[in-house]
Amino acid sequence: ITVDATTFALFGALGDLALRKLFPALYQLDRAGLLNNDTRILALSRDPGEPAAHLERIDQALRRYVPAAQLDESVLSRFQGRLGYLTMDFRNAKDYAALAGMVAPEMPLIAYFATPAAVYGSICENLAAAGLAEQTRVVLEKPIGHDLDSSRLVNDAVAQYFPETRIYRIDHYLGKETVQNLIALRFANSLFETQWNQHHISHVEITVAETVGIEGRWGYFDQAGQLRDMIQNHLLQLLCLIAMDPPSDLTADSIRDEKVKVLKALAPITSERLSRHVVRGQYVGGSVGGKQVPGYLEEENSNAESSTETFVALRADICNWRWSGVPFYLRTGKRMGEKVSQIVIHFKEPPFYIFAPEQRSLISNRLIIRLQPDEGISLQVMTKEQGLDKGMHLRSGPLQLNFSETYKSSRIPDAYERLLLEVMQGNQNLFVRKDEIEYAWKWCDQLIDGWSRIGDAPKPYPAGSWGPVASIALITRDGRSWYGDL
Ligand code: BG6
Repeated sequence: ITVDATTFALFGALGDLALRKLFPALYQLDRAGLLNNDTRILALSRDPGEPAAHLERIDQALRRYVPAAQLDESVLSRFQGRLGYLTMDFRNAKDYAALAGMVAPEMPLIAYFATPAAVYGSICENLAAAGLAEQTRVVLEKPIGHDLDSSRLVNDAVAQYFPETRIYRIDHYLGKETVQNLIALRFANSLFETQWNQHHISHVEITVAETVGIEGRWGYFDQAGQLRDMIQNHLLQLLCLIAMDPPSDLTADSIRDEKVKVLKALAPITSERLSRHVVRGQYVGGSVGGKQVPGYLEEENSNAESSTETFVALRADICNWRWSGVPFYLRTGKRMGEKVSQIVIHFKEPPFYIFAPEQRSLISNRLIIRLQPDEGISLQVMTKEQGLDKGMHLRSGPLQLNFSETYKSSRIPDAYERLLLEVMQGNQNLFVRKDEIEYAWKWCDQLIDGWSRIGDAPKPYPAGSWGPVASIALITRDGRSWYGDL
């Protein structure tokens, strides 16, 4: 593919996200021949000092975060040749004259905001005042606000200067290869789509378990909590991709229209639902991967009084014809036993049962979509046990597709590589529209308000476990269990 030349301006270029994810992703695109020869990358930060010293930091970050086997000195020097550094106060209009001087007038400018959302409005205003708005696509990192009202403020501030067609809101889960595969899996295989409804599916699980704790981000995280940090965006996006109706084409708005319909159909969180269908937890000290780790309240810079949740499990119901009566069980937490993101679709039992009664509980087809690690898809099917002495004994086995084993030659690109490439190509499919963000906030706000109304304290769970016992009760109460050994 040919990718047009752009000027890529990275606001907040010396922050953790930029150094850990964005520069390595841009490097990988360069290495793959996907950056146009004329593409320039401007690192913008308020840090004064010698540009050369800052560029050196970026070089160090690449050497640290790009896997050694992919570090190629000739690509590195080409990449460095594209880089420029500018010290700026993002709120100061005067500082944008120098930026305008570095931007090629005939090229699209990609303004990537890796800064707190409170600054987005000022950056947009200043870009417009400097005469740069017309050629610019803006990329907004999460979190966009902390509730519906604050997200509207940010979105409205940006919308004063940019049309929705040039606003790219990041949810990095949408850039993950396996997440995009959900669309291929569902709509390129008639096998699944004909079964994809309440007639054939009994329930759906979405688990995003992390082993990491707070990683020095206590200040941010304690204000947010796992609901805002993970459910409002990543898990609800996964739910939408699983639950949406087939879009009529692959254009950004067709897909996003369908996702919005799902968000609008989520059953409201009533007080009864809140107490029966939602569990919030907070980790206490324990062992992850054989290593002792402190509890949330003992982390660096923590406040021992905090009642912020680091784990959420909930049952969501979608009120429409396709999904009526099919619960979606979501759970996500920090410091859990294993890093795994997976979706499990549980199909209903056959309508009539002809095998030995004691084997009945075995029977269930499941489609397991493993998003990370070990990306792949596995369909659990029932077969007969082999052997003359076995009679019609059943067993459940996987029809399995492991992406890295099957497609050996290809490296699975990081989500940010895909997302940056899409912005450069002007494709909005993998970005979140304003109304999606707002409906998601609206739903999550009910949960947050409910928690504060009833003073719901998070339930403790030991680091390295699968969450508070109440999260198991949440699903067993419905006669089900979380899939596998999780
Ligand atoms: C981020 C959250 O959006 O996603 C982090 O802010 C979380 O708290 C991360 O750890 C998880 O992303 P991934 O790609 O590692 O699953």
